[in-house]
Amino acid sequence: MEIVASGIRSTGKLHLGNYFGAISNFVKMQHKNKCYFFIADYHTLTTHHNNKELHDNVRRVFVEYLAAGLDPEVANIYIQSDVPELCELYLLLNMSAYLGELERTTSFKDKARKQPDNVNAGLLTYPVLMAADILIHHAHKVPVGKDQEQNLEMTRKFVRRFNNMYGVKYFREPVAYNFGEELVKVPGLDGKGKMGKSENNGIFLSDDEKTIRKKVMSAVTDSGPQKPNSKMSEAVQNLFTILEIVSTNDTIEYFKEKYASCEIRYGDLKKQLAEDINKTIEPIREKIKEIDANNDFLIKTAKKGAEKARENAVNTIKEVREIIGIRNF
Ligand code: ADP
Ligand code: TRP
Repeated sequence: MEIVASGIRSTGKLHLGNYFGAISNFVKMQHKNKCYFFIADYHTLTTHHNNKELHDNVRRVFVEYLAAGLDPEVANIYIQSDVPELCELYLLLNMSAYLGELERTTSFKDKARKQPDNVNAGLLTYPVLMAADILIHHAHKVPVGKDQEQNLEMTRKFVRRFNNMYGVKYFREPVAYNFGEELVKVPGLDGKGKMGKSENNGIFLSDDEKTIRKKVMSAVTDSGPQKPNSKMSEAVQNLFTILEIVSTNDTIEYFKEKYASCEIRYGDLKKQLAEDINKTIEPIREKIKEIDANNDFLIKTAKKGAEKARENAVNTIKEVREIIGIRNF
């Protein structure tokens, strides 16, 4: 049985990209592996500084994790900040993480560009905290979307460095994982790039049918194929990519043929897409309402998850201290 760990930052409602890039894999993996799924609220602090919102968002993501099918009876589901041992591992790993390599990560460069007035040390050492999240459990598989590959590469680098530095084979190099497939990238509805919270181009798991239809109907397209088998524009390709995720093979084939023969009507494609997205989301949406109303269940589940996660964390910290040479007299 493999150990699996992954998390999502608590920056608000989850969208289709989070679901198909990460959570649907969590759900599939939970029965065959020992899983630790958490809400990365410490990580959120690198960009987010509204304390009321932070709390509400952590609760929101927790509810949506459970609604999307994470089962607290089989997986350990917890909130990152409930495991303070992580901070110690983060500190210890920071001692062998170098400024140059941290500055070169794409996500750091992106964030530094987006928030030039708040280029804090937490932002710089984001991959170190992420490594601590994974290594505290000795996780091998890490289900994440494609955009997290570089962070995983950093974790592997820290593992090799730690093991070499102390002449041990203590930590294991983790791999990014997608259930039996390539890493998924769900595009947005604005014709460019990936679906993302801050991009304002997504569909949330809690969106109702009407909202989904409205968003999909106003997705960017183009003026249509001008000759048979012409190349798709990025915007139309994006709609097809989402169609491939949520629709049946027959539907996908139907619209591909219509496109190839220049008979496609984007209005029909969008209608079908909205319907199939709604079908995917509907049961999750209903569950969100149900779980949101059950505070006792949430409290109990978070407590149980934290206890399980801390069992590993305490043990890892004890062993790491010993390896590093932090010992009692
Ligand atoms: P966002 O981009 O909305 O801020 P996060 O960066 O918090 O989302 O990502 C949380 C998880 O969801 C990560 O595992 C990430 O790889 C995955 N993810 C986010 N957006 C997408 C997407 N459009 N396609 C695939 N996976 C995604
Ligand atoms: N960086 C991840 C994201 O933005 C969230 C995350 C934090 C994570 N710690 C992790 C993912 C550990 C996998 C493993 O989505």
